[in-house]
Amino acid sequence: MKKECLFSGKEVNIGTESGYDNYIMAIESSCDETACAIVKNGREVVANVVASQIKTHAKFGGVIPEIAAREHLDAINIIIDEAFEQSGLKPQDITAFAGTVGPGLVGCLLVGLNAAKTLALVYDKPFIGVNHLNAHLCANYLDSDIKPPFMALLISGGHTQIIDVESYSKQTILGETIDDAVGEAYDKVARLIGLPYPGGPKLDKLAQTGNAHAYELPIAKVDGYNFSFSGLKTAVLRLVKKLKVENGGELSEAQVKDVCASFQETVSRTLAKKLKKAVDNKGYKQVVIAGGVAANSEIRKKIFDFEKDGYSVHAPAMKYCTDNAAMVASCAYFNTNTFDDIDVEVFSRAK
Ligand code: KG4
Ligand code: ZN
Repeated sequence: MKKECLFSGKEVNIGTESGYDNYIMAIESSCDETACAIVKNGREVVANVVASQIKTHAKFGGVIPEIAAREHLDAINIIIDEAFEQSGLKPQDITAFAGTVGPGLVGCLLVGLNAAKTLALVYDKPFIGVNHLNAHLCANYLDSDIKPPFMALLISGGHTQIIDVESYSKQTILGETIDDAVGEAYDKVARLIGLPYPGGPKLDKLAQTGNAHAYELPIAKVDGYNFSFSGLKTAVLRLVKKLKVENGGELSEAQVKDVCASFQETVSRTLAKKLKKAVDNKGYKQVVIAGGVAANSEIRKKIFDFEKDGYSVHAPAMKYCTDNAAMVASCAYFNTNTFDDIDVEVFSRAK
């Protein structure tokens, strides 16, 4: 794949057919992590720096976009320097600079994307814009040799999708949530039982010691490969209210764990069932999971159980499930739906 250097217009070969080692530096700033990474040939991570803003936003119970954008500005130069330092590489050694274009918070995206564009201009290298969702899927290529085709379940704070990945560059969304994303449902349920932001990982931990069959929770029947989680969230809300009335106060510790476990069981069963149907219908033998919620213990367990039926299952290492820039660099290398125009604008919603 030939890409043009921004200043001189010189052509550079990038990707699997390039015939030499590619080092792509990528920047990710779509939400509350400022991240910079350098990846060799799409798979080997030579530097990975993530500055998390969780502490800042925990005070507010969620991400405040304006504050997030300002924190990205404070962190961006530091993390770029740190990535160069970790790798021992110089800007001239970089083959191309990549940045997340969207979906995400516009003010946040602008910081990282403009940094990536500026680096490409200053050092006369190609610029590669990346879709955050495609990048999450590409996290599976990091430190692994997995190749398409495979069926993917992408579960994050903002998205829930089943994606048919036919090749590095051809991906088709087969289904998605019609309301809340899985991560969003986790965070909302966590908040209503009083857990601090981001509640997903904390809810997961509590669920592991609860009884998954303590409470029967409904799951909406949605056509095809689509999902709906807002009814489930409301059912948990009603259950919690009912238990509080019965107790004449707060839930007991055991009840909290049982609510978490029952919610987690319902969500993971639903996701696993639809993913299984999709992979069966397509006839693939490989399944991957990706996105922040792919770090969830029960979802991982249920999907890795597919291996008992002869499927091969892959998930990124935990540190590459949540937002990071290594996945963005990999996505740029494999040329997965990239935007190479320096004038590309950030976008907030999936496209
Ligand atoms: O992919 P990600 O880092 O950011 C987005 O692009 O949205 O995903 C963040 C989401 C949050 O909703 C967080 O609560 C959830 O992933 N999450 C989890 C777990 N770890 C992270 N949800 C459930 N169980 C976990 N272990
Ligand atoms: Zn993400």
